[in-house]
Amino acid sequence: MSAHAEPIPMTARRAPPLRGIAQVPGDKSISHRALILGALSVGETRITGLLEGQDVLDTAAAMRAFGATLTRDAPGSWRVQGVGVGGFAEPAQVIDCGNSGTGVRLIMGAMATTPITATFTGDASLNKRPMSRVTDPLALFGAQAHGRRGGRLPMTLIGAADPVPVHYSLPMPSAQVKSAVLLAGLNAPGQTVVIEPEATRDHTERMLRGFGASVTVEDSPEGRVITLTGQPELTGQHVAVPRDPSSAAFPVCAALLVPGSDILVPGVSRNPTRDGLYVTLLDMGADITFENPREEGGEPVADLRVRHAPGLRGVETPPERAASMIDEFPILAVVAAFAQGPTIMRGVKELRVKESDRIDAMARGLEACGVRIEEDADTLIVHGADSVRGGATVESRLDHRIAMAFLVLGLASEAPVTVDDASPIATSFPLFEGLMTGLGASLNRATR
Ligand code: S3P
Repeated sequence: MSAHAEPIPMTARRAPPLRGIAQVPGDKSISHRALILGALSVGETRITGLLEGQDVLDTAAAMRAFGATLTRDAPGSWRVQGVGVGGFAEPAQVIDCGNSGTGVRLIMGAMATTPITATFTGDASLNKRPMSRVTDPLALFGAQAHGRRGGRLPMTLIGAADPVPVHYSLPMPSAQVKSAVLLAGLNAPGQTVVIEPEATRDHTERMLRGFGASVTVEDSPEGRVITLTGQPELTGQHVAVPRDPSSAAFPVCAALLVPGSDILVPGVSRNPTRDGLYVTLLDMGADITFENPREEGGEPVADLRVRHAPGLRGVETPPERAASMIDEFPILAVVAAFAQGPTIMRGVKELRVKESDRIDAMARGLEACGVRIEEDADTLIVHGADSVRGGATVESRLDHRIAMAFLVLGLASEAPVTVDDASPIATSFPLFEGLMTGLGASLNRATR
């Protein structure tokens, strides 16, 4: 849905201790993939715990447009009747992926080796983001893309009629690009190989195997070599979506910062390719325990017990950890503002091409709240202090994670913090406001 909803200004104030159980929503990455692989399978896929954020609902609508049948039985419980690998029909309408880079890039991959044409668009944020990072490798399969200057949406993709398999080395650490190539490789004959110099989230590889594809992963001096054998028959599965560690990060960090807090966040994915924030927080001296570790839906999960942690220390996050916490830098920057000494985040240039330029959005917002910042193209340094002034209105820039990060800051800063528009939060965490206020947070819809 690219029509932008009315802005919702929201103000966060210093909170009493946060207490209780935070049931965060299903994982966004896994939710997109479950719908897409369900649509590419033969037979029925049942999904439980699906994130019903706008990004995922837009992917669901797209899968219908490509010919799959989707049924919502209950909140988070969906069924997908797939069309099989190579079975996508040509959509009659423009595919609107709203705010979702993951949605549009994975769907482009999924259709790129089927001889159909589709036109993609998104909201003002998505239409600024680079698509050539996926259309370049998709061209190697034989697909053709025609977009706006700089490889921007709206864009028309013509799928390859006689696709060839591809051998592709990722020029940037990106699970979206890796996944687009693997999904395109499904309908190409022979073996498609993707090499990633740094490990990125591996949900596509795991799920492809779960649906019946042959995917091997080997370590080599060049990085992880992922080999997919094309033209498998994927068969419908039951996917139990674990809770999203990237969404859990917001109540977790709020509890770390608000004195007296003690919360439990059950059933959160602990996939090692998503774990960088938690590694970093422990390094900073956070009080987080991982209780009841178990496997759910092919992913390691645990219940997170989080207590307020006085005396957090600033740390350095190395470039090789960036991919495993790429969506968590906004909230880490907020935690860093309350830690002793500088926190140096290295190797973060990919943040410049997210839903917003997240280095710039965090730097300007934190400065407005009285925090000292240094930045260059690939680094963000936050100088922490015992207390943070707050007392500013910050732009969320159509970016859900920027909005949530500054609302968490406002729960612990001296003066309230207002986010000019909290509506983008609905893309990934529609129940954020209710969940946080249920824990005791003070969030109010403000008038501007
Ligand atoms: C995602 C990959 C990451 C991440 C995004 C979700 C995915 O993007 O930022 O929120 O589900 O594959 P990049 O692949 O661009 O790093």
